[in-house]
Amino acid sequence: DDTKAGVKGLLDTGITTLPKIFIRPLDELEEDSSYGHSQVQVPVIDLSGIANDDQHKTIVDEIRRASEEWGFFQLVNHGVPASVLDGMIDGTRKFHEQDAELKKEYYTRDRMRKVRYDSNIDLYQSKAANWRDTLTISLISSNEFEPDELPEVCRSEAIDYISYVTKLGENLFQLLSEALGLKQDSLNTMGCAMARTFVCHYYPACPQPELTMGVNRHTDPAFLTILLQDQIGGLQILHNNHWIDVPPMPGSLVVNIADLLQIVSNDKYKSVEHRVIANHNGPRISAACFFVGNPDPTYAYGPIKELISEESPALYKEFTVREYIRNFFARTIDKSRLRNMKL
Ligand code: SIN
Ligand code: FE2
Repeated sequence: DDTKAGVKGLLDTGITTLPKIFIRPLDELEEDSSYGHSQVQVPVIDLSGIANDDQHKTIVDEIRRASEEWGFFQLVNHGVPASVLDGMIDGTRKFHEQDAELKKEYYTRDRMRKVRYDSNIDLYQSKAANWRDTLTISLISSNEFEPDELPEVCRSEAIDYISYVTKLGENLFQLLSEALGLKQDSLNTMGCAMARTFVCHYYPACPQPELTMGVNRHTDPAFLTILLQDQIGGLQILHNNHWIDVPPMPGSLVVNIADLLQIVSNDKYKSVEHRVIANHNGPRISAACFFVGNPDPTYAYGPIKELISEESPALYKEFTVREYIRNFFARTIDKSRLRNMKL
């Protein structure tokens, strides 16, 4: 029953050293030391001129370059009001900091539940547990939810945020289509923005952050991720074999290409590994929206026909979202997930 109190509940018992289960194995630490650290900047893209023809073209070029070379960018003037962003951070904090008894009602490891709270979703794939707790709101099996399915402490905040970010995602899929040289509606017609999962993370302050991770390196199991982070920091991406910080920028949203968009773009766009380091400062709060595509078990995705040619043959087989997700959760080493979908 203790695990239902999450990492936060563990910290609240007053521990000052990490339980063994959180300690990263030596081989992982050694592999880590083979990477450099760099302060080059993840691209920042300003959407404010998007309705102006000239600026529209420049923005599409920036999105293309960022998606091809970085797989990540920070978005400003994206149209989601600051109050909605702040509300989502606040709502997430309130959920995780509410009375443990109330939180436990949502505890489950059953991935079919629409609203679920747990700790260490990736525990069974990783060698060590991660220092974070997560509330998941899954709009996959059904696009709609009754408002009272959401926890009351963050209900109105989540409803507002979900509606803004869903719209922003559809707009981004238009720009991402254009940047691939496709018709504006291509990725939306393929259902890329159709189903979404929201994960609301809470990374408690960590007494020995160098021994563990907020979340291990991974790529995202979706088409696209839009991430809101608070001001604490800790997100890093692997760029040219260097770990690079994605620094908090008030009012911005982080966008990253996820695995399925790399696949359908036939490797034009890159799904890049990232992680969150643990921190003495905390809690850190973030909320990610995964756009997971059309969940219909008969709807197949593969490299987009217009993007394959003799010079650029299809690199991946066709698959359904369900097959992809099953593969994702079955893998032990995050890096091999994409490779497993190759032809
Ligand atoms: C994740 O990629 O799983 C979380 C990113 C974040 O919390 O910043
Ligand atoms: Fe991620």
